[in-house]
Formats: sequence, structure tokens, C-alpha cells
Amino acid sequence: MSDKKYIIVTGGAGYIGSHTVLALRNNGYHPIIVDDFRNANKDVIERLESLLDEEVIYFSAACQEEPRLRGIFSQFPIHGVIHFAAYKAVGESVEKPLMYFDNNFGSLISMLELIKEFNVKHFVFSSSCTVYGDPKQIPVDENSPVSYNSPYGFTKKVNEEMIEQFIESVSEIKAISLRYFNPIGAHESGKIGEEPDGIPNNLLPFITQTAIGKREELTIFGDDYDTPDGTCIRDYIHVADLAEAHVAALNYLADANDRTTVVNVGTGKGTSVMEMVNYFQEETGVDLNYRIGNRREGDIPSIYANTSKANNLLNWEAKRSIREAISSSWKFEQFIKEFRK
Ligand code: WQD
Repeated sequence: MSDKKYIIVTGGAGYIGSHTVLALRNNGYHPIIVDDFRNANKDVIERLESLLDEEVIYFSAACQEEPRLRGIFSQFPIHGVIHFAAYKAVGESVEKPLMYFDNNFGSLISMLELIKEFNVKHFVFSSSCTVYGDPKQIPVDENSPVSYNSPYGFTKKVNEEMIEQFIESVSEIKAISLRYFNPIGAHESGKIGEEPDGIPNNLLPFITQTAIGKREELTIFGDDYDTPDGTCIRDYIHVADLAEAHVAALNYLADANDRTTVVNVGTGKGTSVMEMVNYFQEETGVDLNYRIGNRREGDIPSIYANTSKANNLLNWEAKRSIREAISSSWKFEQFIKEFRK
């Protein structure tokens, strides 16, 4: 039997997934991408291959296509599964809750059935700081109360609980849910990054698309919050650091005493929207066209992570600065403009 550590990465062609594939490979794991490319471009695979200088193993399949996935699980001895594949747009989930329930619950159920059937011992789940809703106290730690304010948030919260109850029913499988804060940035090469479909919801892609001329202007959603400069505060984490947290999570699971756990993955530092805009202008020298607009419905004033658990349990911490994240995103925006010509 091969002693290679094969890791199935669902959604491995997506934004966080693709960076995690690079981090896994650079740390001795053998990622296998399972993605149906409904929300990612197939050329991500070629770009990963050029960065890694080797072929990438991938299968074009949806998580709910269990017979196809069975074929993949029986072809390789699978050490672990990292499950990214999910819908993730808060606004869309309010419009189409059933689509979110079907995909985000259905995909997780398929993956849990498969790891049980094939005796896969390690499972890493993409959760979100959205499970903290509008926190009463910040920073939030893993014991802070959880709630939800969208069908999307509801799926993440319930998914975490589904994993916990599933783990009780089996022996030997260990799982971890990583609660991501706000991922930003791109690979240092500028060749892999976030490429949203249509108008970006998230702040930094909106900034870079405005700076490059794809969007007219950035609207800052409110400057009358109870924060030092009146704009909202978030914990922006470099996607390359976040990717490395997945490697740390797999390493942890191999020797973990607890069979399920949840861990915050953030930097522990809050940054306001106005600070982000200023950092962007300073880093790139581009004058950003922006205006102050109304608050966006559903936005919370402020959240950032207490990262002690990630530091102690996973032996991981965010290393890259927010400025590095911003300049790598800008590099990617310029790269992808040429690439898509
Ligand atoms: C960041 C800040 C906006 C766009 C989302 C999801 C959450 C989680 C993380 C996955 C806010 C402001 C934004 C713009 C702006 N995702 N903004 N103008 O809202 O913190 O969280 O991503 O699990 O569930 O909701 O991220 O990037 O949308 O916004 O002023 O055009 O930027 O108001 O303060 P958010 P974001």
C-alpha cells in the first residue's frame, strides 16, 4: 500500500480550496480535487499545475454524485477529506434558501457517508465566523454564543452540529470545523486568487475591480457605526495563512485526543473598511473612487477572532500582513485581466 497521504479536497478549484491545494502539496500531502466547476474556472487547474510544476489530480464531480465519488474513494487510499464545496453568498441564500439547504446539507451528508464507508479517518470542514451572528462581546472565542442571520449562516451552524452528531455514531473518525473570518489576498505569484462571478459581494474584490476600472466606484456601506472611524470592523486573514491552517488541522487530527472540535481561523486583529481603503491606496498608489453610502442590511458593526485555540491546539498563527494580502490581490486582479483577454 502506498504511504502517500491523499487528501480529497471538495471545492478544490475555488478560492480557498485552490490555495489549500498548494499548501497541502508544499507540505507533503497529495491533494485530489473534487469540483464540478459550477463556481470555478477549469483553467485554475492549469495555473495550479504551472505553480506546482507537476500534474494535479482532479475529478469533475459534484459531492452529491455519490456513485462517481465512490469510484474516486476506491481508487486511492484516502487519508482525509477537506470539505469546502458549498454555496456561500449570504444575500443569495435569503432569496433561495432551499437551494442552499439542498446543496450545503446534501453535500455534507454525501461526504460523511463516503468517509464512513471508506473508513477515512480525518475530516476538515469549512465553517465561518458567520455562526457568531452579531456578537455581544469581541473578540469572539469558540465558546461565544452562536446564532445565525441568514439561511447561509444557518447551514454552517447546522453543518457543524451534523458533524458532531455523526462523529458520536462512529468510531475512529476525527473531525474539525474551522471558522474562517474574512479571507482576502492571493498567491504571491498573482496567478491564483479570488475571481467572483458577477458583481463582488466582498470588500477587497470590489476595491480591486474598481481600481482596475471594472466597477465605477466603491460604496462604503455606512460610516455611522459605533466604531472609531464609523465604518465596520472585520478580521481580514490572508488566504495563504488560511490555507496553511488546513495543513495544521490535518496534522493536529492525526494525534488529536478530541474527536470533534471547532477552531477560529483569523488574525485576532480588527481592521475597518476605511483603513482597508487607505491601505489599498498606500500599497498600490492607485486613487480609489469611493463614496460613503447607506448601511448594508444584515451587516454587523464589528467582529474579530480570539485565536488562542488555533495558536495552542493547531500550533498555527497568521503570519502575513494585511498589506501583503492587499498587494497580492492587486497583482492577481492585474494578472487575471490580461489572462481573460
Ligand atoms: C466586509 C466589510 C461591508 C463591500 C461575509 C459573509 C460572512 C463570511 C465573511 C463566509 C463590511 C463592507 C463590503 C462593499 C463595503 N463569509 N463593504 N462595500 O460582510 O464581513 O462577511 O464574508 O462565511 O458570512 O457575510 O464581508 O467582504 O462582504 O464586507 O463597504 O462594496 O466591507 O459593509 O463592513 P462580511 P464583506
